[in-house]
Amino acid sequence: MKIQIINGPNLNLLGKRETSIYGSQSFEDFLGKLRERFPDIELNYYQSNVEGEIVNKLHEVGFSFDGIILNAGAYTHTSIAIHDAVGGIKTPVVEVHISNVHAREEFRHKSLITSKAVGMLTGFGMEGYAMAIGYLVNKEKN
Ligand code: DQA
Repeated sequence: MKIQIINGPNLNLLGKRETSIYGSQSFEDFLGKLRERFPDIELNYYQSNVEGEIVNKLHEVGFSFDGIILNAGAYTHTSIAIHDAVGGIKTPVVEVHISNVHAREEFRHKSLITSKAVGMLTGFGMEGYAMAIGYLVNKEKN
């Protein structure tokens, strides 16, 4: 099974950035543990701060992979291009946010991704990525 994780802008700073909100673990450290937890899954990871590069990656994997886990960062709240890309591909997309976006500023309450995603996980910290993998694995089995 092939799953693509896509992280958007500023998520390369995880572990250093606003640690009271996002925690002190880097994504690379977390990814190592995630791969140990799901040894049978090919887990690919891509991060970009550039909107069009995220669109390109969605197009690249969105017709062949079994699942995509997307944390589009701040583009979640602004990007019609990413909304359209998620709507235009075949692979199911699970939207993930580390923080609880609904408990934060009002501009974070609106997501342009959710209506095109299978569903959204928000506020479970990094564990949200593992929960999304769990969902995609069970979906494949059933
Ligand atoms: C985020 C929430 C967004 O509002 C924010 O812009 C991010 C991270 C999260 O994972 O909690 O960059 O997507």
